Amino acid sequence: MSDIQHLLAIDDLGEDLRSILEWAIQYKQDPEPDYDFRPLDELSIGCIYEKPSTRTRVSFEVGVHKLGGQPLTLLKGDIQMGKSETIADTGAVLSRFLDGITYRCFGHDMVTTLSENSTIPVINALSDKHHPCQAAADLMTIMERNPTLEGERVAWVGDGNNVLHDLMLACAMLGVDCIWAVPEGHEPAEDVVERATKISEKTGALMIETNNPVDACKNATIIYTDVFISMGEEHLTDKIAAFEGFQVNEKLVSHASEGFGFMHCLPAHRGEEVTDAVIDSANSIVFDQAENRMWAQMAILTYLCNPAAFQAYIELY
Ligand code: CP
Ligand code: NVA
Repeated sequence: MSDIQHLLAIDDLGEDLRSILEWAIQYKQDPEPDYDFRPLDELSIGCIYEKPSTRTRVSFEVGVHKLGGQPLTLLKGDIQMGKSETIADTGAVLSRFLDGITYRCFGHDMVTTLSENSTIPVINALSDKHHPCQAAADLMTIMERNPTLEGERVAWVGDGNNVLHDLMLACAMLGVDCIWAVPEGHEPAEDVVERATKISEKTGALMIETNNPVDACKNATIIYTDVFISMGEEHLTDKIAAFEGFQVNEKLVSHASEGFGFMHCLPAHRGEEVTDAVIDSANSIVFDQAENRMWAQMAILTYLCNPAAFQAYIELY
């Protein structure tokens, strides 16, 4: 099982991340190359959800279909896993039918267990710790604006959560400076910051933590936020108080570089972490991000499930 490549966190893609994103950008521009390109022909991808989803579910279903494959959406309430069957047994069984699995779960250990017991690629479709498909789409979106990524400075304002973890890792991998402003007590996980810092030492990206949103936004080319309360944290009603001063509003974004992009993984809690004036402004690129979930995931699926087709498409261009 050890030679199967999984995607549990964005740094699993290592130095191939840049070419995967370039592939996605190229494929988005020209999804119908001269030959019949169906890298997932005859392949079936199971997509398991233990939490709600709009973007991830629709982008995987449509993306797999466009690549010639068969997507199967498997909702928690409809399958045996977690009730009368273990995650490990589910991985072993699904490996006999499918060619890849995506899994949206609560604890990150759950997707790790699934990958350890599957003989096909497992893609993390969001866990409480990582959201690699989101980070892939996010960096693709920034690359569409600036293909070299030179001079980019990504500012995160909000919770030290799953989306920030993969964003900082992806920035580190691609040499993009990343500064995150988080309230005290809501910092990102230490082991993820250590991983990002170690990677950034090779690429030269700056990785900076602050508790001050204004400091983070000064000269930022991208300002990114996410909900203050993530799925699975709904019971943490006291948490919201810590985020006073962390709303992304017109005053805060006035510190950013001219022409900055506003990003949010969505869904947004308008009026909470971001105002309508910012998310609906000309600087907002949130719907490009949402669309790019599909293109980035199509590149990832092809890379993991049909590496020869991935390479063949690169050689065409
Ligand atoms: N950004 C994101 O993962 O959205 P969904 O929860 O709708 O999939
Ligand atoms: N941090 C959010 C992201 C949703 C796409 C959550 O985990 O709920």
